[in-house]
Amino acid sequence: MMKLAGFGLGLRTPHYEAVLNEPHAIDWLEVITENYLVPGGKPLDYLERIRERFPMVMHGVSLSIGGTDPIDLEYLAGVRALAARIEPHWISDHLCWTGTDGRNLHDLLPLPYTEEALASVVARVGQVQDALGRQILLENVSSYLTFHASDMSEWEFLREVAQRADCAILLDINNIYVSSVNHGFDPLTYLQAIPKDRVRQFHLAGHSDLGGHLIDTHDHPIVEPVWNLYRTALAHFGAVPTMIERDDNIPVLSELVAELQIARDLCHSHARQAA
Ligand SMILES: [Fe+2]
Repeated sequence: MMKLAGFGLGLRTPHYEAVLNEPHAIDWLEVITENYLVPGGKPLDYLERIRERFPMVMHGVSLSIGGTDPIDLEYLAGVRALAARIEPHWISDHLCWTGTDGRNLHDLLPLPYTEEALASVVARVGQVQDALGRQILLENVSSYLTFHASDMSEWEFLREVAQRADCAILLDINNIYVSSVNHGFDPLTYLQAIPKDRVRQFHLAGHSDLGGHLIDTHDHPIVEPVWNLYRTALAHFGAVPTMIERDDNIPVLSELVAELQIARDLCHSHARQAA
């Protein structure tokens, strides 16, 4: 896996022109794989122009690694072709399922954390890594429900998947925070259970507080408790490449660049303390 460092943003359509004029404040970009699987057209034109200026990673939303439908080999062929074109440092998707019987529910749904589910996910990750010819990263999703059938915690499940399937981890700090509030666990327990050598990337994002529970809507700036958890994650994992996801209520690029500077400053002050 090629080395990537620093601070990135998720590339979003309203910022196509702006990122081309802002090549210094952003170290790399994460692109949503599904937006570029159709050959030709404006998105792919922009992608190639932007790729000339920035290192990239690819982030998918429809692998459904936790699902029971067969892995979509046609989709994987598309992912592989796009990767050959833009040479991303890595390819990630989510530890979740997105639908069943060929229907995509367009939601990232959690799994029951059982041995049976674990064995299935491990086999499917192997199949995907073989088809892509590379290791993938899996991201923890946020959740609002748990299954009575679960006989291990989410962090144990994530760790076991990564170790048994030999894949890497994209740790979403906001999702850990959101789930910790929704389910009442200590987010520190989560961080401490994850093997350092598996973590390649962090996600940061804002969420919505619906009173009774939190939802990872990615439509707000990052809140203070998530920055605090990021500090803890830096202390535990060191300087992992970090990026901010904003999917709705998208501000001008300079606002996200300013938010990214907060992450950069936290990371640098942590590095100074650790030195
Ligand atoms: Fe994320």
